[in-house]
Order: sequence, then C-alpha cells, then structure tokens
Amino acid sequence: MSTIARTGATGLDAMLPELVQWSSSYGHDLAFAREDLLGSAAHVTMLGRTGLIPVEDAAKLREQLIALFRDAQAGTLALPSGEEDVHMAVESELGKRLGAIAGRLHTARSRNDQVCLDLTLHVRDQAARRLEELVHVARRLIEMARPLVDLPLPAFTHRQRAQPISAAFLVASWASALLRAGETLAFVLDRTRLCPLGSGACSGTSLPIDRHLVASLLTFDGPTRNALDTTGDRDFALDFAWAGARVMLALGKLSADLVDYASAEYALVRLDGAISTGSSMMPQKKNPDIFELLRGKTATGVANVVHLLTLVKGLPSGYNRDQQEDRQSILSTGPTVSACLRAVDLCLDHVHFRADKGEAALAEGFTQATDLAEALVRKGVPFREAYKAVGELVRRATTQGIGLAALSLDEVRDVHPQLDADCMGVLDPRRALLAKESYGGTGPKAVQRTLDELQLLAGKLHDRAQLVPRLDAMLDHLANVPVEMR
Ligand code: ARG
Repeated sequence: MSTIARTGATGLDAMLPELVQWSSSYGHDLAFAREDLLGSAAHVTMLGRTGLIPVEDAAKLREQLIALFRDAQAGTLALPSGEEDVHMAVESELGKRLGAIAGRLHTARSRNDQVCLDLTLHVRDQAARRLEELVHVARRLIEMARPLVDLPLPAFTHRQRAQPISAAFLVASWASALLRAGETLAFVLDRTRLCPLGSGACSGTSLPIDRHLVASLLTFDGPTRNALDTTGDRDFALDFAWAGARVMLALGKLSADLVDYASAEYALVRLDGAISTGSSMMPQKKNPDIFELLRGKTATGVANVVHLLTLVKGLPSGYNRDQQEDRQSILSTGPTVSACLRAVDLCLDHVHFRADKGEAALAEGFTQATDLAEALVRKGVPFREAYKAVGELVRRATTQGIGLAALSLDEVRDVHPQLDADCMGVLDPRRALLAKESYGGTGPKAVQRTLDELQLLAGKLHDRAQLVPRLDAMLDHLANVPVEMR
C-alpha cells in the first residue's frame, strides 16, 4: 500500500484499503499512461535544465520514464498496484527502480496540474486522430456523391415527399454535416494549445520553474494563464465530448436516412448482404442493424456531454476530487467516435441508390409542384397567385386520382391562363433536378461546386489534424533534448 501522499497530517498509517480501491482512478488512468509519462519526462527535463534538481538525477529519472513509455506503447506496462492513480503508481515504480532520487520527480508539481496536463494531451491527441478519420469518411462520401448528380430521389420534409433531389445532393448533405462536426474537433485542437503543467496545486510555485520550456517540449503554444482556473478546468473535455457528440449526431442522421430508405416502404436504397442482418425467426428479413446501432450509439456521445456538464456544474474554483469522475466520459468519446466512423467507412461501398424507385417516387409530379409555381413566376405571375393556382391543380388531380402531370392542358389553362405545355414540362423530375442551380441547391453544377468546396474544407481539416504531433514522436524528440543546465 502506497504511503507517497501520506504525512503526519493525514495520519501516517495507511488509508482503508477498500476506500483506496473505491476512490482510485488507476484503472481508467491507464488509458493515458503514455501522456502521463511523456509529461513527466518533459517535467524532469525542465527540472534538470533549470538546476532545480541535479542533472544526473534528471537524466536517470527521464531514462526510466522513457523506458516506461516504451512499455506502455508496447502494451507491456506494469506498475505497482494499490495506488490511488497512475501518477502515484509511476512515482512508486520509479522509487523501486531509483530509490530516493524518485522523490525529486514531483518537485514543483501537483497531481492537480498533472492530471490536467494528461487529459489535455489525451484530448488533443484523440481529437486529431478522430479528425483524420472523419476527413477520410467525408472524402469517401464526396467521392461517392460525384457520379450520382443526376440520380433522382425525393427529398422529405416532415417525412413526407417534398421535392426532387439527386442522390449526390443527399450524400453531400451528409458530408457537409460530418465536416461541420469536424470543425468542432478542430476547435478542440484550438482549445488545447496551452500547457497546464506548472500550475501546481492551485497557485503556482515558489521555485523558479520554466513553464514555457515545458510547454514547448510538449508542443504547446505556451503555459496556461491562471493556476487556479487551470486546475479546476475541464472545459476542453467538454468541448471534446461535444465535438464527439456532433460527429455521432451527423452519423446518426445518415443512419436514420438509410434505415428509412432501405425499407420496403421507401425502397430508395439497396443494402448489400455484407452489411445486412437477418432475423432469428422471420426468414424473409434483411435488416439494417448496423445503421440502427450507429444511430443508437449516438446516445453514448450525447450522454458524455450531459455527464460532464452535470459533473462540472456548481463546482467551486480550484481542484475538487469530483473532477476525477470525468474519466469515463472523456475516455469513451474517442473510441466510440472512431469505431463508428470505421463502421460507416466499411458500409459505404455496400449502399446502392435505386434510380428506378427514385424516378417512380417522383413520377406523378406532385413533388414538382413548387417548380410549376416557379414556372409561372418566370412569366411574371406573383408567387402567391402561382402557388394558389398550383394548389388548385393538385386538388383537381387528387380528386381525379391522377398525377399532376396527367392533367389535360385545357384543365390546366382553366385554373390559370398562363399555364401552358412549356410550364407543365417542368414536372419532368429530371428537368426539375437540372433546374435547381441556385447556390447550395440540388442542380448538378451546384452540387459539384458544393462537393469542390467540401473537398477544400476536408483538406484544411486534414492539415489541421496533421499539425498535432503523435505522442511517440514527441517522446522521441524529448529523449534527445539535453537535461543539462543552459
Ligand atoms: N486521481 C486524481 C484525479 O484524477 C488526481 C488528482 C488528485 N489530487 C488530489 N489532490 N487528490 O483527479
């Protein structure tokens, strides 16, 4: 049982083992053991260079920390059990390896700033990796969309058939939402640019540390500005959970669309067997479980945001142990997002839009009613008058049990004198599709332009993610930085 953080004040005898175990974050902390070891390696480098500890001790400590990092990287890290958290477990392990020297590691540092550093490094790394994966999926959607610019589908509002769109337009809408979620991940990268280490317990330290050096060793822009704020801050974690939820929401919408589109009622999409499931009882079933699961896993993303918000709400300034309960939400966000992005990536090649069914859904012409009204507007008729006239046409067609396109020209002229064969031509779904070339509309040129712009955005986000160095690359660099005094 550890006695690292016990003094005459706490009572030198050990804490009740069951309570140590109950209150320990060690199990969760292992997920960011590498971040912890990297942060400590940077810290001892600074302690050596500023002369706060002997250079030989700094070198020995760093050597062991690097060795432990390599173990963690290889999945073979073994630390003493029975510790409150990973920070104590590492110090305890160093004590075993180096004896009294290990007691120098925690100079001018608290676990309060240490855990904040670890989580910041973790969130930055995770956000960058998830952003890369997101860009990959967005690019695949963009590629998937390009050849589909004239494949017609109905768009739905209120889940009722609304207007003709192309399948490319729908797929581009998914890519657009996904990349917008990607922008929130990029925002997380902006919110993790300052280094918390050196804040100490809550007010800094009387020792002449060099926070700027630690920050630059860990590729931050600089140190955080207020120790009290820093040690109580989990806003970056909230931002990450929010970004994760946003990615999940974007994937959830794509999934909800596909679940509907693949049903016999819509039949606008065919899913290959490779991504479909069956029923254990109903032999006829071909189910879209993967997309339902993607939609369902959105709950985890949303729950993580709510959990963190609830956790930090009402906390006073400074570190509070409540903060340790941030672990599950922070740690599950990255893997959940990653696994869902991967699942979508695997599915895309197995989703096929059905042009025949799309055309059939639009054939009666009702979904082109707005286009017909706009044809009258082009002839100078006020929109509201045109809208009413077409509404009357819809009433007559429905009463007769025929489509809008099947009304006779005489009947059409009877409703509005300026309606003619030319106007009625816009009821052709393909023509309707081709005509919507307003910026952001479903016309083929408009969609290609949107896709080009999304492609550019994807490139920018990719470059932003690439700017974040990998943890192992940072460690490799650090290993070659001298620990000697400058
Ligand atoms: N395990 C703690 C956490 O994750 C580390 C900080 C503990 N600080 C303290 N003063 N007890 O939040």
